[in-house]
Amino acid sequence: MIYLDYAATTPMSEEALETFVTASKNYYGNERSLHDIGSKASLLLEACRKQLANFINASPASIYFTSGGTESNLLAIQTLLKSTKKDGKHILTTSLEHSSIGNYLQVLEEKGYEVTYLPVTNKGIISLETIENAIRKDTVLGIFQHVNSEIGAVQPINEIANLFKSHNILLHCDCVQSFGKIEIDVFKSELSSISISSHKLYGPKGVGALYLNPRLSCQPLYPGTSHESGIRPGTVNVPAIASFVTAAGHIISNRNEDQDRYHSLKKILKAHLHDVQHLLSFESSDEDCIPNIIGMRIIGLEGQFVMLECNRHQFAISTGSACAIGMQKPSETMLAIGRNEHEAKQFFRISIGKHTTENDLIQLSNVLKLIIKQNY
Ligand SMILES: Cc1ncc(COP(=O)(O)O)c(C=O)c1O
Repeated sequence: MIYLDYAATTPMSEEALETFVTASKNYYGNERSLHDIGSKASLLLEACRKQLANFINASPASIYFTSGGTESNLLAIQTLLKSTKKDGKHILTTSLEHSSIGNYLQVLEEKGYEVTYLPVTNKGIISLETIENAIRKDTVLGIFQHVNSEIGAVQPINEIANLFKSHNILLHCDCVQSFGKIEIDVFKSELSSISISSHKLYGPKGVGALYLNPRLSCQPLYPGTSHESGIRPGTVNVPAIASFVTAAGHIISNRNEDQDRYHSLKKILKAHLHDVQHLLSFESSDEDCIPNIIGMRIIGLEGQFVMLECNRHQFAISTGSACAIGMQKPSETMLAIGRNEHEAKQFFRISIGKHTTENDLIQLSNVLKLIIKQNY
């Protein structure tokens, strides 16, 4: 089977696997235990914290290890709402956010918060002007993802951060799809918080990180707990964290070459589909999107049908966010960029990664052409 669903999750890299096994054997202590075996695990944990902090130009004390992107998003929103010094219950976001955020915003609305979902362009980009016009006296928080998981649209997060800073509003940025693909410098951009997930970058599942700007006076969410300063209690999975940070180091050191290669692979796929392009709609633009996520449609065919047909031909692609599969809902991202429900249900996603070859994409384009031939 050819795997083309890297935005859903990635296989662990050899280095990450090796680190996980070594750390599990040699650093199994509870890092809060005061004996030498605990201290040894604690030293490794703090070295990992320092290394991850370096990758985003943060201080180690601002990094909290979590169970992944979902938990980091939830902890960030809860912590920022608790830390804001402003009065108000107004939140700005878009409907492009991952379901972990969208679902929690519904809970907040039930608790009396008012959420404004701002419109985006037909390429999935939010304009600074739109944000500026929507900011109110009682706006306390902005939530904007860096990269969209369905079409790969990249938001101008540094400019958004400057705008929010000038209005003294906290800003959370979901960097789950961007970390390791685009440079992130929290010192320069002054984001209030960001979330990162290990399994999107060839690390283990169930581990990730939350960055919280140290200028915030963050109160622990769970007072009286000691792990991760009370932001994320529970025995810390040091071997998984070591493996995650190893994977992160590798993806960052190969970032430029990888991104260049993905640009070429995307071009190859499009070139091989050229003769049927009048039956296709590429939803990921070439300028404002990362190249490894290719959202598209075959006009008139349901995305789920295309995905299952690809599966039958031994290609693993996706209909979008893995968390929404089986729910048969039209893609929120498609609706946000102006597609109607019918078009949104045609959406499918090809996401490429470090094991993807030119031949994989040529073969996939042949399968897509076959699906078109058999169904038109
Ligand atoms: C943009 C985005 N945020 C958050 C998540 C959730 O991350 P995790 O699977 O680590 O909980 C995902 C996973 O698909 C994602 O794509």
